[in-house]
Amino acid sequence: MLIVMAGLPGSGKSSVAEALGRRLVAPIVSVDPIEAAMWRAGVARDQPTGLAAYVVAEAVAGGVLSLGQTVITDAVNAVGAAREQWRSLAARHNVPVAFIEVVCSDPVVHRRRLEGRSRGIEGFPEPTWEAVERLREEFAPWTDHRLVLDAVTDVSSNVTVAVEFLATVS
Ligand SMILES: Nc1ncnc2c1ncn2[C@@H]1O[C@H](COP(=O)(O)OP(=O)(O)OP(=O)(O)O)[C@@H](O)[C@H]1O
Ligand SMILES: [Mg+2]
Repeated sequence: MLIVMAGLPGSGKSSVAEALGRRLVAPIVSVDPIEAAMWRAGVARDQPTGLAAYVVAEAVAGGVLSLGQTVITDAVNAVGAAREQWRSLAARHNVPVAFIEVVCSDPVVHRRRLEGRSRGIEGFPEPTWEAVERLREEFAPWTDHRLVLDAVTDVSSNVTVAVEFLATVS
């Protein structure tokens, strides 16, 4: 199956994805490190590297699905076009797609986590709280069947809920 994480920067997607990936023994294809790699390789920042990173992630995830194995993709997925890309990838491979959105319902906690962490992606600036607030306005409403996890809950409880949800997706 194709498992797609979504949510604002610092909401806790990657933390849940990594724990879920360990639990399922499934690889994670994360968009931000791909974009950072393009910049390190000399692709100019005014090029559409944001979109390109999603397309590269799709290609890599498609390779895993071709092996008949589950893959987790990790990206903000704020807009309809991004979500449609994953639906279409899953359809081409004839596998179910499971969307897992991670929110952080407490803005004080969210901001503290965003500003307190360092992902250590070389050449990749950490988003500011102001950028997160702007993205919140742009985050398209979502009607897909999906699991919404709140990152005020601990990661391992959320992973247990995610595993239960995945058992219902077909
Ligand atoms: N219960 C929790 N669930 C998720 N993340 C948590 C939790 N408690 C603390 N955190 C911390 O919150 C911070 C932000 O999480 P994370 O980096 O996973 O967010 P993200 O949604 O992947 O952000 P980005 O889109 O910028 O990559 C991390 O430092 C993470 O360790
Ligand atoms: Mg992340």
